[in-house]
Amino acid sequence: MDLREKERKTVEILRALKKVNYPGYSRDIVSFGFLKKIEVYDDDRVFIDLEISTQKEEVIEQIKEKVQEEIGKIGWIKGLELSVREREIFRRQKIPIKGKTVAIYSTKGGVGKSSIATQLAYTFSVLGLKSSLLDLDVYGPSIPKMTGTQDSEPTSYDGQHIIPVEKEGVRIMSLGYMAKGDTPVIWRGPLVIKAFRTLIFSTHWPDTDVLVIDLPPGSGDIQLSLAQEVNIDGIVMVTTPQDIALEDVRRGISMYRKLEVPILGIVENMSWFTCDSCGKKHFIFGKGGGELLSKVYNMELLGQIPFDYELLELADRGKIYVLEKKNSEVAQAFLSIAKKIIDLLKISV
Ligand SMILES: Nc1ncnc2c1ncn2[C@@H]1O[C@H](COP(=O)(O)OP(=O)(O)OP(=O)(O)O)[C@@H](O)[C@H]1O
Ligand SMILES: [Mg+2]
Repeated sequence: MDLREKERKTVEILRALKKVNYPGYSRDIVSFGFLKKIEVYDDDRVFIDLEISTQKEEVIEQIKEKVQEEIGKIGWIKGLELSVREREIFRRQKIPIKGKTVAIYSTKGGVGKSSIATQLAYTFSVLGLKSSLLDLDVYGPSIPKMTGTQDSEPTSYDGQHIIPVEKEGVRIMSLGYMAKGDTPVIWRGPLVIKAFRTLIFSTHWPDTDVLVIDLPPGSGDIQLSLAQEVNIDGIVMVTTPQDIALEDVRRGISMYRKLEVPILGIVENMSWFTCDSCGKKHFIFGKGGGELLSKVYNMELLGQIPFDYELLELADRGKIYVLEKKNSEVAQAFLSIAKKIIDLLKISV
């Protein structure tokens, strides 16, 4: 669907929504400012997000019915996903740092979130920022090994605050330092959330300019709690160039958008492999995934990171790639992405 068609369809939906009055009023829900989003997908399904200032269940129900009725009159719509919710006031707490927080997210596992979180944290540090790295993958923390700090232990001076581990200028905190062993930490529900809160609120690194958070894959408890309970300045979505599951990504994006957490953009990882002997780029993992996502969801493509075997190999040995291979194509890609994030979040360097 081209942009013009999308626009035309969106306007048509907007007109229909303007026919829905707030129960008991002659004013419509759009002019009340309750419409948060209209999204028309390429397959003519539609997502409408409404946020209503009411605590009355029956008001929500009436609005839902009326919206469905009006939208039902539009012939081309193949399916409606309607979200009508009470305007919630989240009591988000500020993470106790002076700077900004960026979380690295993907719906799929194994796309390179932890690698990107780690390399970005060190790239910020190279750029002169006081940078910290928080591993919130409480199910399978990989940052300690990736940074060669698995034998370190955070300390505490008062039994309340945790002093993070530090390596080459970057402070690191992970549950992996506390729950050691080879078996992944398999926790559920309340325990996970408790661990999450401890890591976020008890780690002592107040002078942090930029905190990079590594997340587990998917959109479960941790991602939801993070979005609801703390102020995140931006999400970076990671994808690979293969045929990606657009539906999965859409779920993740709509979760963050509903909760009004800004998505800074997309990083495509393992975009190509540059051959040592012929110097050509080989698109071994497919092509175009990041670009497609950025178009479909109207998000900036922050950058593409090539596949480099040394990234994997150095990580296995606990060495920091961007410090070891400063002039490489991959390090340059991280530099450019980090600079874009700095601009987007207005961090002063
Ligand atoms: N650009 C790259 N070039 C080479 N290897 C990479 C690249 N990016 C990631 N890898 C490797 O791919 C593997 C998976 O990466 P990583 O652990 O960062 O993914 P993840 O998304 O955090 O996974 P999970 O969902 O399990 O947390 C690791 O072995 C990592 O070293
Ligand atoms: Mg990971």
